[in-house]
Amino acid sequence: MIKTMMGAFIIMMSLNAAFAVDEIMPMKRHDMNVTDARISLHLSERMKQHQMADMRAHLAAINDIVGLMTENKFAEASKLAHEKLGLTPEMQRMCNMLGNEKATAMGLAFHRSGDELGDALVSGDVGRSLSALHNTMQYCVECHATFRQ
Ligand code: HEC
Repeated sequence: MIKTMMGAFIIMMSLNAAFAVDEIMPMKRHDMNVTDARISLHLSERMKQHQMADMRAHLAAINDIVGLMTENKFAEASKLAHEKLGLTPEMQRMCNMLGNEKATAMGLAFHRSGDELGDALVSGDVGRSLSALHNTMQYCVECHATFRQ
């Protein structure tokens, strides 16, 4: 009797496990097959490397700016925002090479917001600076949701 009960218990547990796997697996399969609906910019291999390096620099700049804010170094943070996120001639050139009007417009607006962030930071006003940072990061989120390389 005890053996039968143990047997039934083991079968139930393994069925449970099988169902649990079934619940997870379709998601996994789905994830692997899911198509990336973002618009491709069809960048050349060279542009891809260049763009990714710029992107990593943008992320580092955001990190450095937040770090400087925590140390109350707003003038330095402002300088960094203008230099690394602002609309420098190099960034303007890069945005114009994206080969997609909407992506170029988004990139240029993003870099303008980087200069606005620089202007907000130099005021030393935390609230205004965070609001400007949020606005800038909104462009990161929006562009990544819309475009891929
Ligand atoms: C105008 C469009 C645009 C804006 C604005 C933008 N990005 Fe990107 N970023 C891209 C594209 C396109 C890729 C490539 C994504 C892909 O192909 O999956 C990318 C990739 C990246 C990567 C991956 C780099 C790597 O080496 O893997 C990082 C990190 C990144 N972006 C950070 C940022 C940050 C931080 C911001 C804002 C401060 C930002 N990006 C703003 C378009 C943009």
